[in-house]
Amino acid sequence: MSETDLPQLDFSTMQPYPIWERARTECPVIHSHGSDLDPRDGYTVTRFGDAEHTLRDWETFSSSINADHIGKFMGDLILAMNGPEHRQYRNLVAHAFRASALERWDADLVVPLIHGLIDDIAPKGQADLVADVTSKYPVQVICRIVGVPLEDTPQFHQWAEEINLGVLDEPKGMAASRNMRAYLEPIVEDRRKNPQDDLITDLVTAEIDGEKLTDEKIYGFLRLLLPAGAETTFRTMGNALTALLTRPDELARVTADRSLIPEVIEETLRWESSVTTTSRIATTDAEIAGVAIPGGCPVTVVIGSANHDAGRYDDGEEWKLGRKTQTHLAFGTGPHQCLGMHLARLELRTGLNVILDRLPNLRLDPSRPAPVIEGFAFRGPTTLPVLFDV
Ligand code: HEM
Repeated sequence: MSETDLPQLDFSTMQPYPIWERARTECPVIHSHGSDLDPRDGYTVTRFGDAEHTLRDWETFSSSINADHIGKFMGDLILAMNGPEHRQYRNLVAHAFRASALERWDADLVVPLIHGLIDDIAPKGQADLVADVTSKYPVQVICRIVGVPLEDTPQFHQWAEEINLGVLDEPKGMAASRNMRAYLEPIVEDRRKNPQDDLITDLVTAEIDGEKLTDEKIYGFLRLLLPAGAETTFRTMGNALTALLTRPDELARVTADRSLIPEVIEETLRWESSVTTTSRIATTDAEIAGVAIPGGCPVTVVIGSANHDAGRYDDGEEWKLGRKTQTHLAFGTGPHQCLGMHLARLELRTGLNVILDRLPNLRLDPSRPAPVIEGFAFRGPTTLPVLFDV
């Protein structure tokens, strides 16, 4: 079956899950024909097992395709590398993102940043948790870790959004990419002369086979880390808050029993993966679920769909605690599995706990429309109007 036999994604609702559910049953690997824009045929993988297999088999399904789209805006990036080169570059920063390295950041950086944001809203009794908290908090954390001054985070957030959405608006994406580099250049030069305890210093002092990293590699890393760290966790936190606020009984249960927070986070990541798709290219003729994939064809792995697969999860479309299977593909799997997943989980855990501690009787504002999680490539609510006691 080909894409023409399936209903098209509905851009008026921004809700792809019903289509993906149908694809998993009727056409788990969707074949779409090339177009004037891209003459290659494409294949879209929607079931959990096929998605997992595709992401793990990096030799057959290469990440190098990321250099063609997101790489245009980010530059030389690990997301587009493979094999030993990928391992070498990933290892340069991996130590900073290990679970054991994060404890220091929690106390020194994550906890003070979330409290600072809540200080601004706590006396008011009402807020928009997206505008006031979630859209600011992860970008502040990643900017501080990288070594960008806190006051410049709103600018970084805007560039991160524009780089991420560059495929939809190329001039804007390219301008954001240039502006981010121009902004970072004096900081990079400063760290070359005055090393500090931050990631820019790690990158400018790092050597591979006795050679320092080229500027292209340094800015490629930074242009990936800032959007990857900012745009994803921000939406996941909005999705977790939406799940709880629209289920007041569950919100009360979790507020009273914080040991449920890790499960809230994993179930939210599964239910509404903030990154819904990843891209690969077949390096050779291959097959997925009986469908022949010619070498050179792009393969889209729909993480969001895999995470709802009825073959693995009962009532996969529902958000519910107490599931038998809680593992998911929200952070991908295989060699490119999210480098920031421990940081993301830490930010979500600390952020949700502080919100529940400091905003008593938290509830949706009944005078405003109910929140909606929307989007295709990235999903989250655009607004979360709430009331709480002061
Ligand atoms: C809830 C939040 C997050 C989600 C859902 C998420 C999702 C993902 C996914 C699905 C991938 C794999 C892409 C692929 O296989 O092609 C990935 C890779 C990556 N993520 Fe995240 N991410 C999150 C948070 C973060 C954070 C906080 C950072 C901060 C540094 C980060 C940095 C990265 C990097 C550098 C990669 C590329 C790894 C590589 O190519 O080896 N992510 N992320």
